[in-house]
Amino acid sequence: MDHFLYRNGSLHAEDVALSEIAASVGTPFYCYSAATLTRHYQLFKEALSPLDNLVCFAIKSLSNVAVLKLLGDLGAGMDVVSVGEYLRARAAGVPGERIVFSGVGKTREEMRTALEGGIRQFNLESEPEMRALSEVAASMGLRAPVTVRVNPDVDAKTHEKIATGKSENKFGIPIARAREVYAEIARLPGLEAVGIDVHIGSQLTELEPFGQAFDKVADLTAALRADGHTIRRLDLGGGLGIPYTRSNEAPPLPLDYGALIKEKLGHLGCEIEIEPGRLISGNSGVLVSRVIYVKNGEGRDFLILDAAMNDLVRPSMYGAHHDIVAVAEPAPGAPTQPFDVVGPICETGDTFAKARDLPLLAEGDLVAFRSAGAYGAVMANEYNSRPLVPEVLVRDDHFAVIRARPDYDEMLKRDIVPEWL
Ligand code: LLP
Repeated sequence: MDHFLYRNGSLHAEDVALSEIAASVGTPFYCYSAATLTRHYQLFKEALSPLDNLVCFAIKSLSNVAVLKLLGDLGAGMDVVSVGEYLRARAAGVPGERIVFSGVGKTREEMRTALEGGIRQFNLESEPEMRALSEVAASMGLRAPVTVRVNPDVDAKTHEKIATGKSENKFGIPIARAREVYAEIARLPGLEAVGIDVHIGSQLTELEPFGQAFDKVADLTAALRADGHTIRRLDLGGGLGIPYTRSNEAPPLPLDYGALIKEKLGHLGCEIEIEPGRLISGNSGVLVSRVIYVKNGEGRDFLILDAAMNDLVRPSMYGAHHDIVAVAEPAPGAPTQPFDVVGPICETGDTFAKARDLPLLAEGDLVAFRSAGAYGAVMANEYNSRPLVPEVLVRDDHFAVIRARPDYDEMLKRDIVPEWL
């Protein structure tokens, strides 16, 4: 459920008409609903109750500091994968003890910054990284709290670019090596093992791969405890999928996911951490765009929008589907026609949808891409020298621009022409 509904013939974010925001901010823009973000976060909290738990929002899916503050103020932890994300979480007022640091390539500088600023744990992804962190922490007179991200060799049954739990993927340490690795951690001066981490992929639409991974984590917990290690936390990663179409998709609900966690791992007495991104942010955001032209091609009509692949890259990068709807509510039974929905960028890959049945849209009309809150704004870039798309947050009947559209001067000022040219 989200809070983007038609009211009085016009698509609203909560109590604000998207057309009103478009008139004030211009298009394209991302718009997030505070109520939807809150609700999705609460769903996970309810699903994990009464387990001791921390829901760490995966910042990579939506990293605007205002959104992080909203979630942080509700008590959320944060999952970060770079010092940039770490600093965003801190800027949003999230204390270090609620921030977990994931990622395969943490640098020594990033480790130092997080250790200085405070961190709940590092999720280690390789043995060289483990030794580097021990060195950095020991040089600061600290022991860094760590988990090892194990790679359980499970097929997440998702898009190949976002599956991470198979042995051929670059992520984690093979689960078969975990006991050796924890033994080394116990010998290293700068580390303290606090638990185990696993994350098998994103946009999972079945529970079964999670179940397989959790079984392996349960076995490993027992084995490591038998070896004398303290395993008090299990970080189960993110990855629960969302419906991208209104019609036929029904991915498992957070409640079912929580029940699975309790069934597989509840008896271990560990604190449970999860790192959901998409399920919290995905359906909490839309991308609003205006039709620049309707172009009649040969055997097809193109809807040329002012949003492009640089603003929302998922369709061209993963072949991802986003529902596209008219902001002005079509009358019941109004005719539709197939459109190829494209942006203005100079390559054919800049296509959002082919032969998509849409109302008879015309120049100047507004459309909204649904489910664009996750991996939308964060993956935007300036290709074709198009300024980054702005972001707006709605709560009840008011909205605020939470990232302004850069002007062209700002864009041009970043380039430096050397004096010898
Ligand atoms: N934890 C770790 C270690 C991750 O790598 C990820 C996502 C998450 C948590 C959050 O996963 P989520 O709950 O959002 O599925 N750009 C792609 C998705 C990349 C996901 C990367 N890792 C897309 O647009 O589909």
